[in-house]
Amino acid sequence: MELHSWPFSAGTSIEMHRNAAQRILGPISPDHTSPVMASLGWSTIPHIGNDHVEMIHLLSLSGSLRSTSSNTQALHAAAKLVPPGVAVDHYDEIGQLPHFNPDLEDHLPESIVDLRARVVRADGLLISCPEYARGIPGSFKNMLDWLVGSPDFPGKPVALFNTSPRASAAQAALKLVLETMSATIIPEACITLALLGKQADPDAIASDPDNSEMLRRALQAIVGHISAA
Ligand SMILES: Cc1cc2nc3c(=O)[nH]c(=O)nc-3n(C[C@H](O)[C@H](O)[C@H](O)COP(=O)(O)O)c2cc1C
Repeated sequence: MELHSWPFSAGTSIEMHRNAAQRILGPISPDHTSPVMASLGWSTIPHIGNDHVEMIHLLSLSGSLRSTSSNTQALHAAAKLVPPGVAVDHYDEIGQLPHFNPDLEDHLPESIVDLRARVVRADGLLISCPEYARGIPGSFKNMLDWLVGSPDFPGKPVALFNTSPRASAAQAALKLVLETMSATIIPEACITLALLGKQADPDAIASDPDNSEMLRRALQAIVGHISAA
């Protein structure tokens, strides 16, 4: 496991966490709390007994802002199917992010600091994104543009979900963008679910034999990659 994929990785010692955390967030007090972490609501770096962190943290990101989005529902279904020892945090503030502007890199808006911190904190990303006009939705590309300058993005393991078999152009574009950003796309974790036009909620998706099987395999692939790194 490379240090820059800090922090909550399986089998990483608390000392490695402390070093990586200090490098990114500044000094950490003896109770493992830094001012930046405290402002983000993390009071401590969680660890159990023998100084080894065992949870794997995934961050899910949906390319659709729709309240009943099939992409968001698929991500919520995935969160219900994760193996033990894996937690999924869903980022739902893409619609509130400012437009990307390189001039702001030296004085990042608070929302971008939070976005980058949540990506840094994740051991891997679950992304599900629709296709708009044969491309990536603008709001999602805007978020990715903000992450280009994030030093911890390269090497980040990514699982890519697609909820519409006909949305091939956006998936191809998304892969190209993520590869350009040096993400590690896990091929076995890239799946297409046939949810288009269905009013499936997360429970229905998670209990459907075909969809749950595909999601489980994708999750196993990205978790296996993270665990083996
Ligand atoms: C403005 C707009 C443009 C779209 N363009 C395409 C397209 O080019 N190709 C496609 O397969 N679907 C297209 N769609 C359909 C969406 O990809 C589809 O409704 C998708 O399921 C939306 O995802 P969601 O349920 O997560 O919101 C478009 C939908 C909208 C609203």
